[in-house]
Amino acid sequence: MSDSFLTSPLGALEYAPAPESASLARLRDSYGLFIDGSFTEPHSVSDTVNPATGERLALYTRASSEDVDAAVRSARRAYEMVWRDMPGSERAKYLYRIARLIQERSRELAVVETLDNGKPIRETRDVDIPLAAAHFFYYAGWADKLGYAGFGPAPRPLGVAGQVIPWNFPLLMAAWKLAPALAAGNTCVLKPAETTPLSALVLADILRQAELPPGVVNIVTGDGVTGADLVSHPGVDKIAFTGSTEVGRIIQRVAARAGRHLTLELGGKGANIVFEDAPLDEVIEGIIDGIFFNQGHVCCAGSRLLVEESMADEVLRRLRRRMDQLRVGDPLDKNTDVGAINSAAQLAKITELTEAGEREGAERYSASCVLPDRGYWFAPTVFSNVSQTHRIAREEIFGPVLSVLTFRTPDEAVAKANNTPYGLACGVWSEKGSRTLWVAERLKAGVVWANTYNQFDPTSPFGGVRESGFGREGGRQGLEAYLDV
Ligand code: NAI
Ligand code: MG
Repeated sequence: MSDSFLTSPLGALEYAPAPESASLARLRDSYGLFIDGSFTEPHSVSDTVNPATGERLALYTRASSEDVDAAVRSARRAYEMVWRDMPGSERAKYLYRIARLIQERSRELAVVETLDNGKPIRETRDVDIPLAAAHFFYYAGWADKLGYAGFGPAPRPLGVAGQVIPWNFPLLMAAWKLAPALAAGNTCVLKPAETTPLSALVLADILRQAELPPGVVNIVTGDGVTGADLVSHPGVDKIAFTGSTEVGRIIQRVAARAGRHLTLELGGKGANIVFEDAPLDEVIEGIIDGIFFNQGHVCCAGSRLLVEESMADEVLRRLRRRMDQLRVGDPLDKNTDVGAINSAAQLAKITELTEAGEREGAERYSASCVLPDRGYWFAPTVFSNVSQTHRIAREEIFGPVLSVLTFRTPDEAVAKANNTPYGLACGVWSEKGSRTLWVAERLKAGVVWANTYNQFDPTSPFGGVRESGFGREGGRQGLEAYLDV
């Protein structure tokens, strides 16, 4: 038996490195904008960096208000001249083609996404990219069946959609936004996040390959200034936003003034509720997945663990042991579980909130991993002795940090789970179906998972209540946001 199969002192198997090749990304030095079916010359460029190293990957263009205007005008022309009146069965063919091209270029896309975002290749390869393709396949199937979606016999599209997305699932959020909009007959201007523009630019190349008519999708890169230009543009009929609650509020004011259609998918502080009778091995994996998937940069993360008091010590003990086994490091390594924090700014926010947790008296445990000496990293961390008033129990940390609270009765579990301004997702773990249903119907959240966590499927609607936003993405319901109903 070779050394690599010997167990380490922590009880985890040693793995030899298994890096995916960065050269598969085939990155260009600099990128322009995708407007009216082709790439513009780059101008006003900024760096996008690999957060695992801090090194520049490429330069992208910060779109000016003139660029945004050109993109919106192009989308309007394509809407009126081509897309709106194209039979749904024809629109479907383009969506199927895009889905298949995402599959064909999935290895390249996975590497691009991992380099630009910092998330492990195992996740981009197995989750982000296949799910992005699945969204295009799913909504392709709706394009010629809109009259049967439950919104009347001949629902009309809204027009030009301005779509602003975050950095945590860059390609997947682009797919969530574009696929239903296009299936319903709208045209789009999409703005990716400033730290992760690259997979959307590869997608632009895929749209060109699919021979999507010029202007049906335009992609304008840039920061919040470009985003603000897009959502306030008078030529935009519908705004779709995923990101922070703060920016969501700003956009809601803009949309209210202009009387536009709006959907918002904002932050969360999800409760993962564990009852004493739940199967412990599955629970531990569910907690780990709920908070450490994608470094905790997940709006629906199970960032508050509510565990029945009688089993709290046992859960904590096993959780810490499991955390010590997580492989933190090179995101391109196929064995890596937890990758890099997306940006210096996000790392600063996570650090600030965990320091507040310690100051406020919660007990911190961080995994005993060795962090790389360059790039942005944060060790998986769990806080126990957390009270409901602590900042780490109330604010979205958006990082690999779990807060543990306890409860004694189902009523107390529900009260604590709902004690948040957010309402995106929760998990319930119990062997007893009647109890799971009792709890689920009392939770104020858009999504409740039972004996699992972070399950995503294009057929299933996703979205929040309260300060987590409104509107649904995915499923038949996801079409409603892009139809005049
Ligand atoms: P953000 O909300 O500022 O960024 C999201 C997107 O909105 C980006 O594309 C950004 O360029 C754009 N944007 C920013 N200001 C805008 C404006 N005034 N008008 C239109 N578009 C605008 O989020 P940020 O700064 O990246 O992260 C801050 C915090 O927000 C995170 O720490 C996290 O807690 C939360 N967040 C939550 C997300 C979620 O999915 N729930 C996603 C990203 C961030
Ligand atoms: Mg980047």
